[in-house]
Amino acid sequence: MPAHVACVMDGNGRWAAQRGLPRTEGHIAGEEALFKVVNGALEVGLRWFTVYAFSTENWRRPPDEVRFLMNFNETLLARRRDELNRRGVRIRFAGRTDRRIPRRVQRAMDEATALTESNRTMTLTLAFNYGGRAEIVDAVRAIVRDEVPAARVNERTIGSHLYYPDMPDPDLVIRSSGEHRLSNFFLWELAYSELMFSPRYWPDFSSADLYEAIIEYQRRSRRYGGV
Ligand code: IPE
Ligand code: IPE
Ligand code: MG
Repeated sequence: MPAHVACVMDGNGRWAAQRGLPRTEGHIAGEEALFKVVNGALEVGLRWFTVYAFSTENWRRPPDEVRFLMNFNETLLARRRDELNRRGVRIRFAGRTDRRIPRRVQRAMDEATALTESNRTMTLTLAFNYGGRAEIVDAVRAIVRDEVPAARVNERTIGSHLYYPDMPDPDLVIRSSGEHRLSNFFLWELAYSELMFSPRYWPDFSSADLYEAIIEYQRRSRRYGGV
């Protein structure tokens, strides 16, 4: 079993467009898919599950969509937080705090994090206002602030200054919607991850697709540069 699976949930907008619906309907359908997949992850006993929900580049979208995504994050927590808590899920957010995130939304994120802090069945990390390069920049800033001498900086130093030093690197990364790129997701952490690409738009992604990806993962041979 992979210890950590991460998903780039992509294709909500195209899913909606295909049905003649506004893009926001795709995000709503994407939430349903997310929680079905979270249930699937819990059922197979996955310990770490991460989803890319909003990138540092997604601020470039039309203001209406950005506003929708921000508030949607809050309603999603209001709807799902208690159930996740009951099921032993620790909720975390990885990303930059930002003044553009409405204060109510930030508060909902902080409350969900605090409420579920001691849960250990699974850690669900929502990468929100997350950018892989931004995370590396933030790590470098923290290292400089700690006045670590240059000769002492190694890979472990960088790893221990990332947003969640206790998070294992993802073993498996799945991107939906047929795009074959990382879009600034977990650049440091993905050095040796297995990558998989599903043609399905995220709202159509299911636990069965997750299981299929895990089975494919189990067939792969990870060599880490060795033989
Ligand atoms: C993923 O779906 C959700 C977010 C990035 C917030 P998209 O909104 O990117 O959907 P497409 O890629 O435009 O279809
Ligand atoms: C990546 O999807 C970010 C998230 C899924 C949150 P995008 O839709 O933003 O990526 P690009 O723009 O197609 O690279
Ligand atoms: Mg997209």
